[in-house]
Amino acid sequence: MTQNTFKNDIYEGLKSNPKSLSSKYFYDEKGDILFQRIMASDDYYLTNADNEIFSEQTQDLAKALQTGNEPFDVLELGAGDATKSTYLLQEWQNSGADFTYYPIDISSSMISYLENDMPKRVPNLKVHGLAGEYLEQVREAHHLSKRKKVILFLGSSIGNFELHEAHNFLRKLYDEIKTGDVVLVGFDLKKNPHQILKAYNDSEGITRDFNLNLLERINNELGANFDVSNFEHFPIYNPLTGACRSFLISQIPQTVQFSDGTEIHFNAFEAIDMELSQKFSIEDIDRIAMRNGFEKQPYFYDSNHYYCNAIWKK
Ligand SMILES: C[S@@+](CC[C@H](N)C(=O)[O-])C[C@H]1O[C@@H](n2cnc3c(N)ncnc32)[C@H](O)[C@@H]1O
Repeated sequence: MTQNTFKNDIYEGLKSNPKSLSSKYFYDEKGDILFQRIMASDDYYLTNADNEIFSEQTQDLAKALQTGNEPFDVLELGAGDATKSTYLLQEWQNSGADFTYYPIDISSSMISYLENDMPKRVPNLKVHGLAGEYLEQVREAHHLSKRKKVILFLGSSIGNFELHEAHNFLRKLYDEIKTGDVVLVGFDLKKNPHQILKAYNDSEGITRDFNLNLLERINNELGANFDVSNFEHFPIYNPLTGACRSFLISQIPQTVQFSDGTEIHFNAFEAIDMELSQKFSIEDIDRIAMRNGFEKQPYFYDSNHYYCNAIWKK
């Protein structure tokens, strides 16, 4: 991702009505650290549920994904700190499987960290980090190797897309991979609305800081003068649609200036649409798989059925 793409996307979002910013830009160096703190917080149930699946059903997951003895590549889309995938990689390494791990992330600091840290976690692991956008880097991985692909897309990152974007993304992913390749997609399931809302409005205010950090990033990288104390973090959950959305609300009328002379005006209580974290039913998941051509394989759940890791095959 170039600095120009970042700038164009930010301006496009702030000049549109309603204003919006893409949550993929949350993850600069400080954003990565804040996200790790979110994952460690008690309110963010997603991580515990997903960790339970990966740590307690490792062998079954590894078997369901590997299908056969041929060498393969593991592509992890939006790898983050790769805590969960480490269980799988250790399992494959211990069983003598021949594979290379390609973590993909828009955060280049995360990719540098993983290239350095993963061989310490999984001795002799072959790692090739790819910094950039999901699909661009899937394409790059195909140029680098023709082996069978196992694709991991964890953390319910699929829920950050609007539904039509999720279909579009999965259809493109389907077109990129080969027959026999497998995909594991993590989905956060519909549950008690209070519990969902709390995960995005934690008692320590980490999700608030995570959202406000994007305004600070814009200040640092585009020379803007956002005063973050003039914005309030406001998440909502709609149990009819399963959409959990985070907004930043301008508390006063204000004009934000950028170093190139651009000015963005906010009315009092005008919102910036920051992030969608969509929740799914099992029927939703099956429908998404079918509509994009994937064949359903085993689904894995935590003991509370908060979360589902769905395996699909092309
Ligand atoms: C919600 S975190 C999930 C991290 C990890 N997969 C997990 O489950 O803990 C999303 C990760 O995807 C990365 N990311 C977000 N949008 C991306 C994009 N369009 N292309 C590549 N990486 C992206 C972020 O930098 C972040 O590390």
